[in-house]
Amino acid sequence: MTGLISAEGLVRGDHGSLRLLAEPAGHPLFAQIFGAEPKSMAMAAYLAEQTGYDGIDINAGCPAYSVIRAHGGADLMRDLPRALAVVDAVRGTVKFPVTVKMRLGWEEQKTYLQLGRLVEKAGADAITLHPRTVNQGYGGKADWAAVQQLKRQLNIPVLASGDVIDSASYHQILHDTECDGILIGRGAIGRPWVFRQCLEGDESGRRPLVKTDDRKRAVLRYLTLLLKVPDRWTPYSNRHIQAFVKGMPNATKFRRAAACLGNWETANNLIQGYFEQMEERERE
Ligand SMILES: Cc1cc2nc3c(=O)[nH]c(=O)nc-3n(C[C@H](O)[C@H](O)[C@H](O)COP(=O)(O)O)c2cc1C
Repeated sequence: MTGLISAEGLVRGDHGSLRLLAEPAGHPLFAQIFGAEPKSMAMAAYLAEQTGYDGIDINAGCPAYSVIRAHGGADLMRDLPRALAVVDAVRGTVKFPVTVKMRLGWEEQKTYLQLGRLVEKAGADAITLHPRTVNQGYGGKADWAAVQQLKRQLNIPVLASGDVIDSASYHQILHDTECDGILIGRGAIGRPWVFRQCLEGDESGRRPLVKTDDRKRAVLRYLTLLLKVPDRWTPYSNRHIQAFVKGMPNATKFRRAAACLGNWETANNLIQGYFEQMEERERE
């Protein structure tokens, strides 16, 4: 999945939005768009199809103010006719798979079952449910029972997103929800091996060990990929770099130094220095 792209931005030819819809570097890759105007959403989906993406994901779950203000993302969950018009327009325009990502709804009105039915009827190929309300943000526990409820009601694949962090939670969510697949968000930050661990680990959470060298290679790869991103040094990139050493010895010192990285050389030196120390410790 790409990052979340504004359909209006794409239609306007906005440079930042078009950059997010760059030619896919690997496959399969879906573009994820938000917006509230059926015509713009259909046009954005068409652009993604023409650019070589493998499918389009319509976001109906993002709670960010900038997205809600434009009546996109989770705002669609309190305007079901509009949500349906968006899915209808996109489905009628593109031939590749159309999926929808949603939440439970708003605290005062959980509309996920209604929206799920509408989206399926409109011809969507799959739905991802992040079972929290918009008001909940990312707090509290994801309501896995709601995923099971949706799954039992629909015929198209239902994917679950929320609180999967290791092989134990992975097996548990598959068992509890009967879902067709899962997404991992926060559990993958600084832990790109979590996907392999889930597939190879068992219900007890026992999993293949992550070696210090694997961590080093992963964070250096992150650094290399970062080089391709304009305006790359943000609190977000620093937080990602910090996350790679979570739970390791001397992590606090590393995290403090990584909080204000501003160029590649300093970042590379910090990482190389830290891992040299770790390797020395392991040799002792
Ligand atoms: C920093 C951050 C950015 C996110 N961006 C998106 C996004 O662009 N599109 C989306 O569908 N979900 C997005 N999500 C939500 C996640 O996909 C996921 O549904 C949610 O975090 C719950 O799963 P988790 O417990 O595995 O993190 C984001 C979450 C976080 C924490």
